[in-house]
Amino acid sequence: MKVHKPYVIYEEGDHSFIWLGLDESDREKGVLTNQYLIRDGDKGALLDAGGYFVFERVLNSVQEFVKPENVELLLYSHQDPDVVGALNLWVDMVPNARIYVSELWERFLPHLGYDLGEAINELPDQGAKIPFGKSYIEAVPAHFLHSPGNFHFYDPISKVYFSGDMGAAIFPKDKWYLIVENFEEHVKLMEGFHRRYIPSKAAIEKWLNRIQGMDIRIIAPQHGSIFMEKDVKNFLDWLRSLDKVGLDLL
Ligand SMILES: [Fe+2]
Ligand SMILES: [Fe+2]
Repeated sequence: MKVHKPYVIYEEGDHSFIWLGLDESDREKGVLTNQYLIRDGDKGALLDAGGYFVFERVLNSVQEFVKPENVELLLYSHQDPDVVGALNLWVDMVPNARIYVSELWERFLPHLGYDLGEAINELPDQGAKIPFGKSYIEAVPAHFLHSPGNFHFYDPISKVYFSGDMGAAIFPKDKWYLIVENFEEHVKLMEGFHRRYIPSKAAIEKWLNRIQGMDIRIIAPQHGSIFMEKDVKNFLDWLRSLDKVGLDLL
């Protein structure tokens, strides 16, 4: 079992997109998760900051790149415990952050035990461009993939697309890797997840059509491995070719 240091996926000038490391022993506490930081100058935006058990590792990793008080955004794709589980710890550590989550889930988050007050912002179903640094981060609607109120986040500077649970892979013990190298082999680790956790083929198609014109160089999922350049197309083509998912299997 290894501990992996953060890895800078993209960097140009003062803008970077960073994967925030991994402790492989976390798998004993649940499915492995990826967290990412978008850095612009001295400001940070944290994507799907994660659950209780990864909080310390993620916070330490963030601090290698930006000061906690300079984390401006906590962006959440959906409501699952592996996504929002440590939110009540984060609000204390990054007191200046604005929190964004679907308008469907905003009313559920106080059950984590924290009054989020003014810090929380509802993402409308149609998505939003969230101002950040010298640019913005786009909240892209990806509803029912798998949550009914679900967003992905696109950084137009790095052209990295954070795809939440889409692209998730479940690894056998000690077989984890960060970047997809052999797409055909990698598919075997994704198939079960997408068939069972993604409820409908129609939702996949709607989303694929929505993102078709976007300039996406890298897809970074919340579980599993990162798709670089040519594997972005391989991944999207594979999703379009999936015959039966979710409701089709009932
Ligand atoms: Fe999820
Ligand atoms: Fe997840």
